[in-house]
Amino acid sequence: MGHKLDRRTILKSIVVLSAGSVFEGCGKEPNPGETLGSDAENAARFPFSVASGDPRPDTVMLWTRAVQPGASVDLSLRLEVASDSSFTSLLVHTDGLPATAAHDGCIKIRLQGLSPATTYYYRFSYLSGSTRYRSKAGRTRTAPAPGTDVQVRFAVANCQDYVGRYWNTYQQMLTNPPETFDFFVSIGDYIYETTGSTVATGGGPRVVTLANPSEAIDLGGGVFAAKSVGNYRDLYRTYRSDPLLQQAHERWPVIVTWDDHEYSDDCHGSVATYFDGRKNEQDDQRRRNAEQVFFEYLPVDEGPLGSDPTTDVVVTDQSQLFPNQELWRSFVFGKHLELLMTDLRSFRPDHPVPEDGFPGTVTDTQETIIAALGQAFFDQNFPPDLTEYINVDDASLAAVKGACLAVVTAGAQQYGLSASDAAAYAQRVVKGNLGLLVVNQLLAQAGQPPIPPSAQMKRGLFFALIGKQTFFNRIGSRYVVVKDTYDLYTGLLYAQTIKASENAFGLDQEAFVVSRLEQSTATHKVLVSSYSLISMQLDLTHVPGVPAQFARNFYFDVDQWDGFPNKRAELYARLAGIQNLIALSGDIHGAFAGNETASNPKYALLTSPAISSQSLSEELGAAVQSFSPDPAFQPGGAIYEALVNGLGQLLQVSTGGAIKYVNPSAHGYLDITFGQSKATATFHTIPATEVTTDYSQRSDLDSKFTTVAFDIAGGVLTPV
Ligand SMILES: [Fe+2]
Repeated sequence: MGHKLDRRTILKSIVVLSAGSVFEGCGKEPNPGETLGSDAENAARFPFSVASGDPRPDTVMLWTRAVQPGASVDLSLRLEVASDSSFTSLLVHTDGLPATAAHDGCIKIRLQGLSPATTYYYRFSYLSGSTRYRSKAGRTRTAPAPGTDVQVRFAVANCQDYVGRYWNTYQQMLTNPPETFDFFVSIGDYIYETTGSTVATGGGPRVVTLANPSEAIDLGGGVFAAKSVGNYRDLYRTYRSDPLLQQAHERWPVIVTWDDHEYSDDCHGSVATYFDGRKNEQDDQRRRNAEQVFFEYLPVDEGPLGSDPTTDVVVTDQSQLFPNQELWRSFVFGKHLELLMTDLRSFRPDHPVPEDGFPGTVTDTQETIIAALGQAFFDQNFPPDLTEYINVDDASLAAVKGACLAVVTAGAQQYGLSASDAAAYAQRVVKGNLGLLVVNQLLAQAGQPPIPPSAQMKRGLFFALIGKQTFFNRIGSRYVVVKDTYDLYTGLLYAQTIKASENAFGLDQEAFVVSRLEQSTATHKVLVSSYSLISMQLDLTHVPGVPAQFARNFYFDVDQWDGFPNKRAELYARLAGIQNLIALSGDIHGAFAGNETASNPKYALLTSPAISSQSLSEELGAAVQSFSPDPAFQPGGAIYEALVNGLGQLLQVSTGGAIKYVNPSAHGYLDITFGQSKATATFHTIPATEVTTDYSQRSDLDSKFTTVAFDIAGGVLTPV
């Protein structure tokens, strides 16, 4: 993949000259005969300011977007790089850098030949007529050389929903002087791909509008999801219009990976999940569109340079985007930190329980379970009157099958499928072994008497026992599954598919991750996994007042690593010899610190709260209320109170204390310092209710924030 860099975007490589070069003094004024644009004119020409990223000891990426108002034209830019903020000591002064309309005016440059642990200032400009328009100056900093005994500190950002929400968390992060952080990491959901959704409050001046909604996916209710290159560019333009985000980019280099929303909510590969299995949502071109714009707008170093380091303009090569992209990469910062950025969305398989899974479908028969786990296990876990299944293809059950087909066809039509699609779905799922419990529900709907369970019937596992209540639904598929049966099902599936069912990284990336961790000599190893490794269980078995059918232990979210428990356990085992491993995640919109296990932990698991997206408590509260009109699910009811207001405590108790700290109703950011003997992680949190207030013109933001800090050594978290 030697030419990765040469293909996606406009990119030139620029080698920095030594300080005190021929450009000394050139930077202060425009050339003779040129006038400098006003601040307003400059801001219109460089509307999203500047950014830098992927700092290494000798290279860094520089980014800007240059436009000419009212015209879509290619522009020829000047780049100046200096060792001082007033640009008196220029290291680079290069003209002729192309910002092309074909790439929305975005340009990325890899600056080479830099000194380690050094601060640089940079700015872009272009001449139009006799006026030179100039971007703001950005500051960036290279990584310390490997082996250097220096502390490294970075901030963490993720999940920055724009719609109706203010980025007060960036404002607070920006109270830190530039020297505080070496860089920040953005670990997913840099944008949200929809114009509004359940995670957005909507209204106010913070809205996302697509210029061409006809190119987008209509999700109903006036909400659209980006699909075309133009749609995705509209999103990045809107998000990058935020002055606080611009200031963060001007101040610190960023290291970015994506999670799902850079493409599509809860995606796997190029498959979206908006319609929960009601239609085929695989769209490779849409994924490539999303990736193209991601690479246009973010200063990601896309790989090693080709043989010609002075490569000129390169055109985006779609063939090198999904599924051929390799976003995963490793960064070494001195002696104490190796940072592994991963991509957990492009290569993961579908969720083990598909959204269109039929509740009655038998996943594992009596014979399979006994063969794998023994008779005693079977007898203990598969009681009569609950787990029987029948074969509806038996000739004697023709009438039963017919009734089931009719009910399922009608049900699928209620989900919006056409009559023929609904009938085809029914034919696909109403066959072979089906859980008696589900068959009897269907018979009841058909007005027919139930089939009583009998000792002659076989017993086994079907989707309803894992929590699948209905087809075409994320509940029981991506969210809220019964832990015991999910573990059993996925364990058997993992063996049956030779591990493919939980291939979260893809084989190439997994090999890279494991080998980097095994070879790393850094004191601390940080594995960035966009979604969380922390197990989030909701154990309702001991919660008073919970109706019997819900008194189970549930995984809340199996779109994250709880969905791949076997791969996770295998990974933990393979990494058993790695010292000081920290897994860093976002995605779940809450602050978490914990371990992989309560007893004798080896790894620290940190989840950074959302910058602005709906908090975990808010999300869960809305879901619980809509799940059932039963008073238990409404505010004041046993389930609502346990799940929503008692969420933090419930999560900690459910995992037996593996979660050491949780705040499910806060926004904020995380900052981590890595040193000789320990790392220190500090959560800076603000109540989620503050997100609709714009603090940018107020001075009382600091009083809304609280901090919680942990020292981390050998995986052990110690409150500071
Ligand atoms: Fe998110």
